[in-house]
Amino acid sequence: MKRIFITGALGQIGTELVAKCREIYGNDNVLATDIREPEAGSIVAEGPFEILDVTDADKMEQLIADFKPDTMMHMAALLSATAEQKPLLAWNLNMGGLVNALEAARKYDLQFFTPSSIGAFGPNTPKKNTPQVTIQRPNTMYGVNKVSGELLCDYYFTKFGVDTRSVRFPGLISYIKEPGGGTTDYAVDIYFQAVREGKYTSYIDRGTYMDMMFMDDAIDAIIKLMEADGGKLINRNAYNLSAMSIEPEMVKAAIQEHDPNFTVDYDVDPVRQGIAESWPDSIDTSCARGEWGFDPKYDLTAMTKRMLEGIREKENQKA
Ligand code: SER
Repeated sequence: MKRIFITGALGQIGTELVAKCREIYGNDNVLATDIREPEAGSIVAEGPFEILDVTDADKMEQLIADFKPDTMMHMAALLSATAEQKPLLAWNLNMGGLVNALEAARKYDLQFFTPSSIGAFGPNTPKKNTPQVTIQRPNTMYGVNKVSGELLCDYYFTKFGVDTRSVRFPGLISYIKEPGGGTTDYAVDIYFQAVREGKYTSYIDRGTYMDMMFMDDAIDAIIKLMEADGGKLINRNAYNLSAMSIEPEMVKAAIQEHDPNFTVDYDVDPVRQGIAESWPDSIDTSCARGEWGFDPKYDLTAMTKRMLEGIREKENQKA
């Protein structure tokens, strides 16, 4: 992996993935694409960038033919809460974009990464220590997209030999780029509101456990999986990943270690609460650890410190 084509480069993961890949593989070896122009000052704009709507297969293939990458990281997607509001748009974008990307990877012989999610599990999946291989009958459009995506990636590997690799990301927490339209977003918003307002109103109820991970660990995991010996990958599409299983009161307590006056109250959103309740409480990551050395560094305490420091620094720069 040395020349990388990235879709959805301005999203929550894409933004930091582009920066890290450019740091490792060289600025000019990473082509960032997204449906809109980067904002002024975006780190994504500090290297090659092209506008791309992933449902436009012709433009995608043209950009690949010109850039000549050996790897594709397909990050463009709608998240769970937005997908529930606009299910048909989600199907067209999440599945249409993925099949276009896989076709491009097949034709141009690209190693391929796309993320799956804890959203690929559903209400009848075992909730605690959810195994790598288990029941996947999600009841959300996002979940349907993610399970279909895992199967499609497996199909392109077994049928056409495309080197597809994927992970089931938990909620990802970062201060560089805020997420939009996800169910796990509360665990990002809570830190921003802690710094800005000293209080937070949570749309996810107390006691609702979900898996989470700090963005640095997520980006490291992508790079590690893509660099791993393909012969050792048994589960390919897609590995369970998580660094912590947490609920809002735990995040509140971790923030209160830094700001004892921080408070949380609740105004539960039935749609996102329903989605959260259909997902596991905690997933088993032993296959990722065993097959390619997944080893996250951040627990809730370490992540909270980094989040508060990072957000305070950003707020100070704005002031
Ligand atoms: N963070 C995503 C969401 O909440 C889960 O993959 O939609």
